[in-house]
Amino acid sequence: MASAAAELKAVAEEARACTRCPLYRSATRTVFGEGPARAKLMLVGEQPGDLEDLAGRPFVGPAGKLLDRALAEAGIDRGKVYLTNAVKHFKNEPRGKKRLHKRPNRYETEVCKVWIDKEMSLVRPVLILALGVTAAQSLTGRRSIVLSRERGRMLELPGGHRGMVTTHPSALLRMPDEAGRRAGFAALVADLEAAALIANA
Ligand code: URA
Repeated sequence: MASAAAELKAVAEEARACTRCPLYRSATRTVFGEGPARAKLMLVGEQPGDLEDLAGRPFVGPAGKLLDRALAEAGIDRGKVYLTNAVKHFKNEPRGKKRLHKRPNRYETEVCKVWIDKEMSLVRPVLILALGVTAAQSLTGRRSIVLSRERGRMLELPGGHRGMVTTHPSALLRMPDEAGRRAGFAALVADLEAAALIANA
């Protein structure tokens, strides 16, 4: 039987050719998850951004840099975490020379779920931390997620997986005031610490 790493590689290869929804048309490439095939902690973002789309790797742009800082502060080695996104293509709208991020809709998120389902069942992490509402909606299958209500709670996810929800780092980048950003960052670090404690128990 193939190892989880080999199977993940095969799934990533399959996902490269994904045309299940129209998002592949305006994206450069599929950005699949990365990290150890048997990671205890999985982090799930919304979708790759502009730089991720160009690099072909999740969380390498500004949100990724912020996440890296939060992981370091929480004492978590990024190399030990499996990082992925609910949607594997960058949804964007060209505006001059820029490509503006657009939130994936319900259909796109649902259609893309096939890939994250495969990642979860191969990696079998102890805990999955959803970064933001889109990831939480995808993982739980629920339409409405109120982050402030779900935060800190254990979620029983379909497939027997356990999850938690925290803020998306991009939400912190969008905050207009320094005090809000600081508080948001501290809360993200606290959630990461809690998730790592559970994952490594
Ligand atoms: N935002 C995400 O949700 N995922 C990434 O990979 C980058 C930015």
